[in-house]
Amino acid sequence: MLMGDKAIRPVLERLTEDRLRRGKLLGRLSQKEVLDWLDQRTNPYRELMTYYRCAMMEVETKFNVLNEELSLQYDRNPIESIKSRLKEPESILEKMKRKGLPLTIESIEDNIFDVAGVRVICSFPEDIYMLTDCLLRQDDITLITRKDYIKNPKESGYRSLHLIVEVPIFLHDQKKMMKVEVQMRTIAMDFWASLEHKIRYKKDLPQAVAISDELRQCSEMSAQLDARMEAVRRWIEHGGGEPPAAGMSPNNKME
Ligand code: GTP
Ligand code: MG
Repeated sequence: MLMGDKAIRPVLERLTEDRLRRGKLLGRLSQKEVLDWLDQRTNPYRELMTYYRCAMMEVETKFNVLNEELSLQYDRNPIESIKSRLKEPESILEKMKRKGLPLTIESIEDNIFDVAGVRVICSFPEDIYMLTDCLLRQDDITLITRKDYIKNPKESGYRSLHLIVEVPIFLHDQKKMMKVEVQMRTIAMDFWASLEHKIRYKKDLPQAVAISDELRQCSEMSAQLDARMEAVRRWIEHGGGEPPAAGMSPNNKME
């Protein structure tokens, strides 16, 4: 069964059951009639999620192709791993309610740009920009928005490059443009984001400010680690010579 279906079915079944019970309809409808009704209501949602899944596959394939080709050229893989996810129905509903949007299929497509998410974990910061440029040069990719939280980290210390791109998917009878959120980050940025995400919900503690400060400092340390590892890689690639200066600012080395 499809991932989106699994999650939305129980929610819809609960809602439907309540509605039917209130209208005293349940007793008058056969199980088949109820299931048919449910199918009619959930089909457009399932269809949309299938389109998003296809768009995610398209973007993932583009990165896999680039990784293969660039690994020949540079003798190393610029991509460590790729993780894709479809937003859970509960999270879609929550976001639409938060934004005061109507709960319709069209409204999901028009307003929620992170239903399909592809996270690309790169080896070094400069790989992020090189791969992003390669992706955006492709003539079937349209850039919708770009947020550079590496050059301008978030208040929390979060660092990543975010893109919303539009990619075509080719169905049996039509071509459809779908939006995909791409998050580009290094292993160090991913390490920080994963741990921060895990402990974020415990920040209503008396020492919340100190914790936030500590997390921001950890993020700076991880940025320095990225910059130093990148400097070592360049040093090796250029055949030795003068060793890179220890502890250099990450911003000196990012582009
Ligand atoms: P949303 O409505 O949450 O999607 O915000 P937005 O549309 O402004 O997107 P934004 O560019 O802020 O990116 C949101 C996504 O980035 C989140 O779903 C997380 O995956 C990630 N993210 C953003 N800020 C943080 C942070 O402080 N910590 C962690 N761990 N992840 C973050
Ligand atoms: Mg988001």
